[in-house]
Amino acid sequence: MTKRPVVIDCDPGVDDTLAICLAASRPELDIRAINPVAGNVGYESTSQNALRLADLLGIDCRVGRGATEPLIAPCRTAGAIHGQGGLGGYQLPEAHRDFDPDYAWDVLAQEARRAGGELEVVALGPMTNLAIALTRYPELKKLIRKITVMAGTAGQGNTNVYAEFNAWVDPHACEIVFQSGIPIAMCGLDGNDTCCMNGEEISEIFDRPCRISDVVRHVAHFIHDRNTIQWHMTGSTIHDLVTMACFVDPSIAVYEPCYTTCETRSSVSFGQTVVDLYHVSGKKPNVDVLRSADKARFLDLLRGMMSWYTEH
Ligand code: RIB
Ligand code: CA
Repeated sequence: MTKRPVVIDCDPGVDDTLAICLAASRPELDIRAINPVAGNVGYESTSQNALRLADLLGIDCRVGRGATEPLIAPCRTAGAIHGQGGLGGYQLPEAHRDFDPDYAWDVLAQEARRAGGELEVVALGPMTNLAIALTRYPELKKLIRKITVMAGTAGQGNTNVYAEFNAWVDPHACEIVFQSGIPIAMCGLDGNDTCCMNGEEISEIFDRPCRISDVVRHVAHFIHDRNTIQWHMTGSTIHDLVTMACFVDPSIAVYEPCYTTCETRSSVSFGQTVVDLYHVSGKKPNVDVLRSADKARFLDLLRGMMSWYTEH
């Protein structure tokens, strides 16, 4: 089987955790590195969570040393949303491995060169690491095959009225990535919401006994309880998980190529991904924007993930 080389950039984070579990269950993926970045919680926690998760899941990959703060914007996190330590209070076992000696952006560049133009990236947090890599190594624009990002929205934001968290934390980095010329698949809040899960689906899938039941059940119910009890929502869109599913099987996703830019100045819409959905700007589309994903097939991918962990 020809494997798909991939680097996962993330800020674990409860939904990042489930996304990485999905990736690790896919034998067709060659996870070269998991690169942490500050985001949901501070770098100390996101990096430890990434290291420990790689250990728990037995992923033979590098864990680079990522950015501890955004390029220009102040460092802002979402600890209230991801709970103590970033995993809803769950404590992963200590890692037996250490971080890679190299920075995340150097790891990304090395793996891109090693993959000879086949490397893909899945970005599940603020895109600071990617932006640094693209700035230091412009040749990566020809060496990275595609970047699938959980970022932005063509609709309402979740951080201010217009902005999604990952883009809002580091809009300068988001803009560097979006204008890089690399093929981008943007799985934003609105497109991901077509895979919103209800309580029965959350329990049917994540309560299945397997070797990672503890952490999966904990974070899935942490997300759902927060959404339904605390925020009175009717269901849960596990954004990084939907994004990873669209990366694993792009055929479940419907994208619209749009010119998209990220707002880095406005006091009202700072961090907004401004999506030219109706092509009125006259500018060439630079981002494939997720409009919907097939929820039935998304749920089947999750069932396959849980089955894999009952057998491996
Ligand atoms: O807005 C949702 C995104 O921000 C997800 O990636 C979540 O993990 C947080 O990073
Ligand atoms: Ca994330």
